[in-house]
Amino acid sequence: MAIAIERLIERPECLPLLADWLLAEWPESVGHARSEALINMAGRTNLHRLPLGLVAFDDGWPVGMATLALDRAPPELEFKTAYLPCLTTLYVDPPARRRGIGTLLCDAIAGEAARLGRSEIFLYTLDAAEFYRARNWQQLTDATPVFMRRSLATS
Ligand SMILES: CC(C)(COP(=O)(O)OP(=O)(O)OC[C@H]1O[C@@H](n2cnc3c(N)ncnc32)[C@H](O)[C@@H]1OP(=O)(O)O)[C@@H](O)C(=O)NCCC(=O)NCCS
Repeated sequence: MAIAIERLIERPECLPLLADWLLAEWPESVGHARSEALINMAGRTNLHRLPLGLVAFDDGWPVGMATLALDRAPPELEFKTAYLPCLTTLYVDPPARRRGIGTLLCDAIAGEAARLGRSEIFLYTLDAAEFYRARNWQQLTDATPVFMRRSLATS
């Protein structure tokens, strides 16, 4: 297995497949519309600003994706910045799961955030808090979706 992680801006030919994944896993986020999913994914082809999409390849074949995007912290938490860099839409194609690709994508997103001068990243998750807790993420809220933080200084 040779896993490589590349930026979506460098691999725009992957956009249709990633739009299919987005639509399949988070249909409500794109109004259940493939055209909206395509536009949404195309908006992640950035290098120096967010949202910034990444794609994982296994021997050249796309097997997963993740995005670093801006989002607000939950209102019960006090943060100085209005918008925070968040890991979103982490997804690995089912046949490729449990081989460390999700973990690699998380680490690559952390690397991109560090490259852009960030010292921490955040995320919301409905049901994968356990996955992230085991990968250096700290849970900040109890309400669902759970809000989590990963410090980049110690990772
Ligand atoms: C979560 C996901 C990205 C993990 O991808 P992956 O490539 O299988 O991840 P890794 O191989 O690095 O890690 C796999 C481990 O995570 C565990 N795991 C996967 N999803 C989990 C979840 N929701 N909660 C807790 N643990 C989870 C697996 O059981 C596995 O455990 P093991 O190592 O003891 O076998 C993948 O399961 C996926 O795409 N799920 C659907 C989308 C999703 O839920 N994304 C997260 C949104 S916040």
